Amino acid sequence: MPVTDEPQVRAAIDLNLRLNVPQIIPRDPAAELAALPALLADVQATADRPLSEATTLPAAAYTSDAFYRWEVDNVLRSEWQCVAHVSQLTEIGDFITLDLLGEPLIVVRDKSGSVRVLSRTCPHRGMDIMPPAFGHGPAEPRVGPLGSGHTRLFLCPYHSWTFELDGKLKACPEMHEACGFQRSEWGLREFRAEVWHGFVFVNLDGKCAKTPGKQWTDFDTHLEKWSSQDLVVVDARTWECPFNWKVIVENFMESYHHVGAHIKSLQPMMPARDTWSEVERPHSIRCHLPYGAKERSAIAAAEAAGGAHEVFPLIPKLDERSRYEWGLTLGFPSLLLAYVPDCLIWYRVQPEGPHKHTLLTTLLVPRSVTQLPDFADRLARGTAASVGFHLEDMEMCVGVQRGYYSGGYQRGRLSHLEMPIWLFQRYLATRARGTWPTLDRPAAAAQRD
Ligand code: FES
Ligand SMILES: [Fe+2]
Repeated sequence: MPVTDEPQVRAAIDLNLRLNVPQIIPRDPAAELAALPALLADVQATADRPLSEATTLPAAAYTSDAFYRWEVDNVLRSEWQCVAHVSQLTEIGDFITLDLLGEPLIVVRDKSGSVRVLSRTCPHRGMDIMPPAFGHGPAEPRVGPLGSGHTRLFLCPYHSWTFELDGKLKACPEMHEACGFQRSEWGLREFRAEVWHGFVFVNLDGKCAKTPGKQWTDFDTHLEKWSSQDLVVVDARTWECPFNWKVIVENFMESYHHVGAHIKSLQPMMPARDTWSEVERPHSIRCHLPYGAKERSAIAAAEAAGGAHEVFPLIPKLDERSRYEWGLTLGFPSLLLAYVPDCLIWYRVQPEGPHKHTLLTTLLVPRSVTQLPDFADRLARGTAASVGFHLEDMEMCVGVQRGYYSGGYQRGRLSHLEMPIWLFQRYLATRARGTWPTLDRPAAAAQRD
């Protein structure tokens, strides 16, 4: 019997992680570094092939520490990472903590109402002011399981330096003999952040040329339709993923696997063969998963009976296409959103090396939906579905990473339905050339209009 309940899947993930350990430890850093130029050249050559000749990348793109370090500098720290949704930070003093690419961070709403991304590294001796799992800090009684909390000030537990919500140093004991010490010069470091359509983004190297609003114009209107700034995160789950961050990105975006992993769940609703990708763009990929005849007739039958087929009320004023499909967008490199006619799904990806990442899966609905008398029941049904297909995906992602460690790994051929994987390869290839898709090669055509 396939394992499909959440505790069983989490236990299976742990076992697979343990099985991978011997493959992960004996790496030769010098050899990997020496092989990096050839690997980047291979990624570019692979991406330059037409879709009809596309293959998977070399396994090393998912296992090499040197390649991961290259990604950290050229793909991850240099681009925008989505770290929070404003519904997680509604009041002044609300914050969440997370660790992103080695940076211990606080995302906080300060006294002026602005959302900031601050370093948790104390400017005194470098202490992480809220080291994970220790439970220190002024917000200790209110720090939630997902690192969320509420506070008036931040306190470093080591020598009790305290910081305002905007990171300024407010007080520090016994520093009066430190010559020339100016409190105003010793705040928590702040990273470049933007709030766009209700999502909070950070650009860790501070050098990204375009803001989220400038570079992701392609799905701007889609987020507007879902009024994403007014949605609320109603379910959030953390997953320790023993696989490369690109594995979840690729899995999220290609729908060919409806014929396998989701044969009983998503395939009857949205048959793989009808899914398609839009024209290639510099900073994003956009896909459509139209409802099949079976799903459309189920909707028609429910509406004819005066009811609704969806779990939550429909997002208001959706056009015909958005009403009868799921949309997927990837904002390079890792902003993953699924537009469902009654909700929005957002995955937060925190890469932690070539072999693992932490994933936060969330479900968002309009705030008004949370006031419905039967909301708890609807939420239980909604998460049963969204977590259900995620559990199916987790098995595939865990299994794919195992293949990357294997001598049996082959550079597999891609189906035309896997165009998003090929487009993602083309993104990585352009980053290796210091540019973005469509800027130095003609744009690949859409699969449909
Ligand atoms: S390290 Fe933070 S107060 Fe000393
Ligand atoms: Fe899936």
